[in-house]
Amino acid sequence: MRVLVIYGTQRKGSTYHITQRFLEKLCDGENDIKEFFLPKDSPNFCRGCFQCFTDNAKCPDYQYIKRILESMQEAELIIFTSPVYVYHVTGQMKAFLDHFGFQWMAHQPNETMFRKQALIISTAAGAGTKSTMKDIVDSFNFWGVARIHKYGVNVAAIDWDQVSNKKKIQIQNKVEKLAVKIKGKSKKVTPSLKVKGLFYIMRFMQRKFRFNEPDVKHWESHGWLGKKRPWKD
Ligand SMILES: Cc1cc2nc3c(=O)[nH]c(=O)nc-3n(C[C@H](O)[C@H](O)[C@H](O)COP(=O)(O)O)c2cc1C
Repeated sequence: MRVLVIYGTQRKGSTYHITQRFLEKLCDGENDIKEFFLPKDSPNFCRGCFQCFTDNAKCPDYQYIKRILESMQEAELIIFTSPVYVYHVTGQMKAFLDHFGFQWMAHQPNETMFRKQALIISTAAGAGTKSTMKDIVDSFNFWGVARIHKYGVNVAAIDWDQVSNKKKIQIQNKVEKLAVKIKGKSKKVTPSLKVKGLFYIMRFMQRKFRFNEPDVKHWESHGWLGKKRPWKD
């Protein structure tokens, strides 16, 4: 399975090690995997210049975004990871997600998303994976990602070496079960009802209000204001 991983930290701690276990189960070899580490691979904050809503190639950080977008297009599964930092994603993950506001369905959705699966992996010492994963779920839903899987775990540790053996066995079992589910679904990926519902609401908005001409052009050029749908051939 072709997988893109965006790590919400450069630290090779618990979140990284759990992600590696997923990759072992999901991929046939290194050629299937593209990995990007934040902040190294997208080091800047969004400046709020609004250029991407006209043309995403005009983003001042496009040199970083372009590489990642290309890998995103090719991937069947996108994995985003983040340890819990004060109940939310790391600052670098939030800054990264801000750079992809243009591909929210309210603007210029990326048609490949409607046929992809995504997995969110988060670890906390004791609490906060739910709200952390929600930070990423919001973007994935509005990007139109067809199926979203989540794995959040309280590791009761600040590093992988400190995680108890009992916990590591529980984690391994979960990883194996979820990997089987993801692989099983990969044969035919169809969007969730939520994503389809959001698509139709946004389609209505584009047709009725035409807030931003480049967005309307994007929808028109894909035929989505007519009969075409991004999840159908
Ligand atoms: C700045 C910071 C904030 C944190 N906030 C929380 C928190 O809100 N809740 C929690 O349970 N753990 C919190 N932690 C602990 C980490 O989420 C936890 O140890 C995690 O497993 C570390 O992941 P890593 O080993 O992949 O870096 C925080 C750690 C740091 C560095």
